[in-house]
Amino acid sequence: MSESGARPRVFSGIQPSGDLHLGTYLGALRQWVEHQHERENVFCVVDLHAITVPEAIDPKGLKAKSREVAALYFASGIDPDANLVFVQSHVREHAELTWLLNCTTPLGWLHRMTQFKAKSDARESVSTGLLDYPVLQAADILLYDTDLVPVGEDQVQHVELTRDIAQRFNHLFGEVFTLPDATVPPSGARVMGFDDPDAKMSKSVAQERDRHAVNLLDDESVIKKTVMSAVTDSGREFRFEHAGAGVRNLLGVLRSLTGESYEALADRYEGRGYGDLKKDVLEAILETVRPIRERYEAYAADPAELDAILARNADRAREHAARTLKRAQDALGVGA
Ligand code: AMP
Ligand code: TRP
Repeated sequence: MSESGARPRVFSGIQPSGDLHLGTYLGALRQWVEHQHERENVFCVVDLHAITVPEAIDPKGLKAKSREVAALYFASGIDPDANLVFVQSHVREHAELTWLLNCTTPLGWLHRMTQFKAKSDARESVSTGLLDYPVLQAADILLYDTDLVPVGEDQVQHVELTRDIAQRFNHLFGEVFTLPDATVPPSGARVMGFDDPDAKMSKSVAQERDRHAVNLLDDESVIKKTVMSAVTDSGREFRFEHAGAGVRNLLGVLRSLTGESYEALADRYEGRGYGDLKKDVLEAILETVRPIRERYEAYAADPAELDAILARNADRAREHAARTLKRAQDALGVGA
């Protein structure tokens, strides 16, 4: 548990690549916001992870994107006075601990990561950074003596790997790291694409296909088109027990946004057309994203103030990170 013994320590992050969408919100951001006052939190904008694929390397745009993601953390309800929010590359200890962990992590563990397999299968060549990505993620988490890592389902394997990396290091070189656990929300941990309910809603696909995702900063007219054109089953009437992936996804989103149970929703829509379900999903989404967009505009209007918050928080994060890095260096016999 945490150093203070009182509140659990939390670390999580989102990459500043592409636009944050409903999946990012329901899988990650919302659970951060919900529990923020019960925990001691570090929420990072993980820009070093974003440069592991070449198309995300955009020297002009990346800093602005990092600022946008931080502003969306605050706009989603993260209290800037009660949580540490900063940009990963501003705290160089993340990269430095990654090297130490590289040297104690078997290569085979990285080749087994399903996200690496999926991303590398789709490309002719991949960077070493893409393979090493989960070790950087382990460094992020371990630097802050983290107990809990709130993420969507696709990241659970990386958090389990982090545990293995920490356990192996502790076993070989002495107790340096706290072992973290992933937490996933009870609903919304895997939101599927509106145009393809067999595939996870993803930022990279959303860049190629207009009707794939609802982005948090999309115009209402665009959101309406995406939701109303969502893929459903071939039948026209709602039959709960025979619902296919598209209808289950819409129901899952509605359940996640309203807190209602599947049973209650099934009763409501039984025998009605899919249009009714889509209209209600649309309404629930708009109610959620409207205030986020309004608050976002306020943060975006003052980039200097945002940069000042991020710089102050990076200074505070660095203090904690440096202490952990020193313990790891001492354990390995490197460093001053
Ligand atoms: P990323 O955008 O890949 O940096 O992911 C940021 C966070 O959002 C991670 O915790 C992911 O697990 C979560 N996430 C991303 N896509 C989805 C999705 N379609 N459904 C639920 N959670 C997601
Ligand atoms: N790999 C995560 C993702 O793509 C982002 C991430 C980087 C992260 N470091 C982390 C998530 C540490 C949780 C904890 O979603």
